[in-house]
Amino acid sequence: MAWYDHAIIYQLYPKSFQDSNGDGVGDLNGIRAHIPYLKALGITAVWLNPVFTSPQVDNGYDVANYYAIDPTMGTMADMDALIDAFHAAGIHVILDFVLNHTSDRHPWFQDALRGPASLYRDYYIFAGHDGQRPNNWGSFFGGSVWAPDPSGSGQSYFHLFDRRMPDLNWANPEVRHAMSDVADYWLQKGVDGLRLDAFIHIAKVKLDQDFPVPTADDAPVLAEPFYANLPQVQTWLRPFCQRVKADYPEVFLLGEAASANVQLAAAYTAPDAGLMDSVVTFRYFPEDASGLDQQLPAQYQAHPLDLPAFKQTQVVWQQTLAGLAQPTLYWSNHDMPRLLGRVAHSAQQAQSLAMLMYLQRGLPIIYYGEELGLTNLTLPDVATFEDPTVTDFVTQATAAGLTTEAAVALVSTTHKLPARGPMPWTDGVQRGFTTGTPWLQGSAAPVASAAEQAADPTSMLAFYQKLIALKKRALFQDGDYHLLTTDQASYVYTRQLDDALAVVAVALEATATTVTLPEGHYRPLLSSGSVDLVGAQLTLGPDAGVVLIREGEIK
Ligand code: NOJ
Repeated sequence: MAWYDHAIIYQLYPKSFQDSNGDGVGDLNGIRAHIPYLKALGITAVWLNPVFTSPQVDNGYDVANYYAIDPTMGTMADMDALIDAFHAAGIHVILDFVLNHTSDRHPWFQDALRGPASLYRDYYIFAGHDGQRPNNWGSFFGGSVWAPDPSGSGQSYFHLFDRRMPDLNWANPEVRHAMSDVADYWLQKGVDGLRLDAFIHIAKVKLDQDFPVPTADDAPVLAEPFYANLPQVQTWLRPFCQRVKADYPEVFLLGEAASANVQLAAAYTAPDAGLMDSVVTFRYFPEDASGLDQQLPAQYQAHPLDLPAFKQTQVVWQQTLAGLAQPTLYWSNHDMPRLLGRVAHSAQQAQSLAMLMYLQRGLPIIYYGEELGLTNLTLPDVATFEDPTVTDFVTQATAAGLTTEAAVALVSTTHKLPARGPMPWTDGVQRGFTTGTPWLQGSAAPVASAAEQAADPTSMLAFYQKLIALKKRALFQDGDYHLLTTDQASYVYTRQLDDALAVVAVALEATATTVTLPEGHYRPLLSSGSVDLVGAQLTLGPDAGVVLIREGEIK
């Protein structure tokens, strides 16, 4: 067993955790000051979103120098001190490793722009001629994946995300070596894990092929089958991963595999695959689109979680990866709205859903602030989003009759940026996050500060502390997972290790529901909402949840 087989991970967004120098941006020294808070929470690893030098076009995912810390976040000495302090507290450090693209400010790209003779030209993907885009593929951030070469060669360069984030050309062995060297630099420093950002996109099919679409319209289209999960992804990453594991066998490789289905996840994480230890999929949360307003574009409308489909998805991932690899278990991250507001509509429901998710087999990844019950901010205006897709949505929504204010409020509940708000540490100025002006401003729903919650045994924070303590028990780390057959109104499973057995039962609907438990006497370990146990009959109130242990055999 490696340390990461039992990791309880906290995803920490450095820009929004704690500012220590008054510039409104969270920083490394700010994080260091809160290690006791993280220790008390009980987590065993942190994943830091990117901290490298970056123009911050995509909040750090546009890296201009992999070997330096962004000045807004601190210095390399601060980073060394932070890693040491985490280690002294027994907390492992996982870095975000952005390998599919760089910033257009990166020296490699700047050199590549000198023209086809540049030694770095082939580090990126240049194609086409006379300003014609080579194909109709669409970028995840809107528009075409192609941007004209600013040096005027008539070629275009490929960017799957923002046009200021050119994709690296992984077909070039020099790129593969260069990225291995970057990994090596950080692993030598003692970092314990890498989160491989967008790794599924490093391979693309031959570029001279339009993605077939049933319309004559030549607008760019998302063409995932042409640039996601292609076989060369595995061919190119295997030597990278194997080198990491050969030199640092204890290092955890966590892949971001947004569109991976469970079969791909198994292929990426099977022990003999020579690839990753675990992946994060975005396929965990099937949505119900049946109630959408047909007058508005779908993108930023609220899509409720399709709970029966969600239950099925969870069960399938649990069963398929059993005995093979650890699934990741999460409700939110910086790319989606927060749990409370998106899925849960009360603190009680959020607690039930947290039990449901994190006590399954796998590795919890708790998104900072979730343990306090944070919701998305409401951002003040369209401009704050800095996202053309939001501008388009609001334009269309207002044309359909919504006020701008209502449209912005709606997007605030469904967009990723308002999920990245500052941590409320205290009730003081800017809630203790900064003495300056926070980099991201918006109005927040009232929530008790971390300080207040730490002193309140009934708080969300106290609940998460208990839940994490439970998760650390051998039963929830190593026990077998078994689904109990119930109707759609609940998700009930057991975890069993030798003679010890626990039941996790959560209502999925806002009505009471009754389930029959396996024989035995049970005692509740943790619950949320109204729970009634009479013999083997368990009645869960609306949105309630409970963890029960079978008496006499506690592990
Ligand atoms: C995935 C990251 O999670 C997301 O925030 C980012 O925009 C893209 N990768 C590009 O790096």
